[in-house]
Amino acid sequence: MSAERTRSVPEAVRRSASELADEINQHNHRYYVLDDPNVPDAEYDRLMRELQALEHKYPQLVSPTSPTQRVGAPPDSGFAVVGHELPMLSLDNAFSDEELHKFVARIGERLDRQDLDELEFNAEPKLDGAAVSMLYEDGVLVRAATRGDGVNGEDITHNVRTIRSVPLKLIGQGVPERIEVRGEIVMPKAGFAAYNERAAATGQKLFVNPRNAAAGSLRQLDPELTAQRPLDMYCYAAGLVSGGALPATHSQTLTQLAHWGLKVSPEMGQVRGVDGCIAFYEALARRRDQLPYEIDGVVFKVNAFDLQRDLGAVSRAPRWAIARKFPAEEVVTTVLDIDWQVGRTGAVTPVARLEPVFVGGVTVSNATLHNIDELQRKDVRPGDSVVIRRAGDVIPEVVRSIVERRPDGAQTVSLPISCPVCGSAVERPEGEAVARCTGGSLVCQAQRIEGLKHFASRKAMDIEGLGSKLIEQLAQEPVAALDDHPVRTPADLYRLTQADLADLERMGDKSAANVVSAIQKSAATTLPRFLFALGIRDVGETTAESLAQHFGNLGALQTADEASLLAVADVGPVVAQRILTFFGNPQMTALIEELQRLGVSWPDEQPVQAIASDSPFSGKTIVLTGTLQQMSRSDAAQKIKALGGKITGTVSKKTDLLIAGEKAGSKLQKAQNLEIEVIDESAFLNLLDQT
Ligand code: IVH
Repeated sequence: MSAERTRSVPEAVRRSASELADEINQHNHRYYVLDDPNVPDAEYDRLMRELQALEHKYPQLVSPTSPTQRVGAPPDSGFAVVGHELPMLSLDNAFSDEELHKFVARIGERLDRQDLDELEFNAEPKLDGAAVSMLYEDGVLVRAATRGDGVNGEDITHNVRTIRSVPLKLIGQGVPERIEVRGEIVMPKAGFAAYNERAAATGQKLFVNPRNAAAGSLRQLDPELTAQRPLDMYCYAAGLVSGGALPATHSQTLTQLAHWGLKVSPEMGQVRGVDGCIAFYEALARRRDQLPYEIDGVVFKVNAFDLQRDLGAVSRAPRWAIARKFPAEEVVTTVLDIDWQVGRTGAVTPVARLEPVFVGGVTVSNATLHNIDELQRKDVRPGDSVVIRRAGDVIPEVVRSIVERRPDGAQTVSLPISCPVCGSAVERPEGEAVARCTGGSLVCQAQRIEGLKHFASRKAMDIEGLGSKLIEQLAQEPVAALDDHPVRTPADLYRLTQADLADLERMGDKSAANVVSAIQKSAATTLPRFLFALGIRDVGETTAESLAQHFGNLGALQTADEASLLAVADVGPVVAQRILTFFGNPQMTALIEELQRLGVSWPDEQPVQAIASDSPFSGKTIVLTGTLQQMSRSDAAQKIKALGGKITGTVSKKTDLLIAGEKAGSKLQKAQNLEIEVIDESAFLNLLDQT
């Protein structure tokens, strides 16, 4: 051993190393557990480097709980088996309110209680990850294990140590001599998306979902690899406890675990009776998409431990808890056929026609395959068993084919050479993923119909009652007011009479009158809505708004040249070209004039260039998230836009600033991961005051 290694540690150095370690651990706790850091990353890095330098000079200082020691050596001989001292139970599931009623009724019978409306439950998210048991002795993490079969698990200490929200050492008063903490290791949605994005870019294998990602990451022998995965841990119970005590209820226990430095989901709450459970379930279901991690239901646990003991367990699940599951977001069904759908801009998209299946709370019989490349990459064929996913309000998609179940002779499908609707050639420009029908909206009925649907849609002209089915009927059947032609252009809509509509199948006089009046009402619109409704390629809602604000009136936009278009916040060369092409088309100018003649009108906008350039928001891409106290998010967005900022809905590398209100979730996490500037509401109000 070199002289360096045997050098004795001066007391002052020992003290400063231990103070540094404590300080870093506190920052870790604030950052990874409380989500509330109070020093910049650079300061944290500085402290860490200082400690590393001391430990390098005096290796005797290195202890297993030092924050520098999260990533250690891989285990010598694979994963060792760990026998759980108390079995790790599973949960019974309830898939309906009725099953929840039965669960509570069973408890009533068992406890011989009538006052079930008073019975208290702790309600908490059912996290979708991998279960873990963590044993702390004298406050130090000594072992972590998977659930395994509930009796025996695998030793994954080396991997769990790398997860920053898992304390290597507990803090605070009254930590029991021995305590086993149980929880779920998850990969947050933002981390999962970022990980897969990187994996795709470097040609590595993608994870199917955050649960598999978490479980797979823990199954690594090399902790270096696990350390690179964005994992997080939330506790949901204590197992074995000795040499210390826990409070009398489950909820107090979770609060106590949080005081000892462990991470607990902030989404938990206490409810009474089955009605309380149902209300909690519904409220969390509504917020599910906004949570930073995937959950697949809500767990209800009888809160008082003495009642839990009275109730006991059957086989592998306790009688005092239940998981009320959300409808599955991924299910398996069969592809009946693969069709090609033609969209508003002529995009020819493969769509899987499915054996109808209940997924994400609705019955689905079509799912998108996005484009020909995706179809080929996923190699989906008619007859295949496939996994379908529908999460939130997102369009159902085919996730993958289950190749093992493929029937003999299943054929691949290729891109059609002509449009399945109008027969025009289908072209796929070099380097583009999307193939398009070359017919255009005058030739291709599909493009015409989709264009009309877009024109009438909520964010465009917002014509209430003029839904997809009705537009399809109108675009196919002759209409008297149009000299017995079907509806062809948006202008035709404003010529329709009540009698025309009442003539259609399944349409009463009253509904016909309502639709006609909704069409007339839509004529008084705004410039951004009108521009969006025109359906200029690549001009979405936000760009339409920027254009309207920049130019103030339609005439100025119609005559704008490329250079002045490029001066608009989110207009690049491609979009500028699309706008020039659109307004250079005499048919489009004729349509606009016709619409104006038929009464479509809007007030001019206040051009904002003049005041925008010197505001703290001008030219910045800004995301608003969470709940603001002083104003609604849309009012805040209006103000920012008026000051030259651009509002977008998703956080990406292009985001300049995130304004985070209360209960900000995954967007905040993503912004932090991407090291984007984040300010809270009061800082935002200060900036507004300055302008
Ligand atoms: S309690 C005795 N609480 O769900 C009850 N489990 O289906 C044991 N899980 O293996 C579990 N979130 O991995 C509990 N808030 C939560 C949970 C939760 C997720 C997982 C856990 C368990 C599985 C049972």
